[in-house]
Amino acid sequence: MASASDAQDAVDPARRAALVTTGVVGGAGVVAAATPFVASFTPSERAKAAGAPVEVDLSDIAPGTMKTVEWRGKPVWVLRRTPEMIAAVKKTDGRVADPESKRAAYPTPPYARNELRSIKPDFLIVVGICTHLGCSPVGPMAAGSNLALGDDMGFLCPCHGSTFDLAGRVFKDKPAPDNLEVPPHKYLSETLVLVGDDSKA
Ligand code: FES
Repeated sequence: MASASDAQDAVDPARRAALVTTGVVGGAGVVAAATPFVASFTPSERAKAAGAPVEVDLSDIAPGTMKTVEWRGKPVWVLRRTPEMIAAVKKTDGRVADPESKRAAYPTPPYARNELRSIKPDFLIVVGICTHLGCSPVGPMAAGSNLALGDDMGFLCPCHGSTFDLAGRVFKDKPAPDNLEVPPHKYLSETLVLVGDDSKA
């Protein structure tokens, strides 16, 4: 039987790549810029696309911004949350559909099955693909920057209006059936994380 990740793998990678965005939350509103992936990959990049784990350097991610890396043809967001962003997540608990990530379609690894869905509070690591029909949400968006999110900070999927908080948790009564997927990952050091492998050494 096909798994949820098989279903995601079936989404056209080219379309997904075209939808990848990176964003910065500013004081007045969202600043989101389209960042297409490099069209032609080197051999090592092709190996990564085939499934090899990807090392991500965290040292150059400024608070409030995120970096997008590719793992198994999927965009993986690494968002460095500010204290304000962490506080914003805590305010959404009663309004997200699955606050404790208990749903099984996109199983959340045990180490991220917590309110912030992360190993470390300041770093959110999720697959940037909407769990509805596979569009790429935009964000992070500042509170008050759009009607769908209202006073919340988060991500917005422009395809059918699903919204997610800054832990990747989908808000209630939205088309997306599940939270954003947390990929397997582990920290290699304070500033280096490995996406795609959470095995114990
Ligand atoms: S694909 Fe995201 S809301 Fe439909």
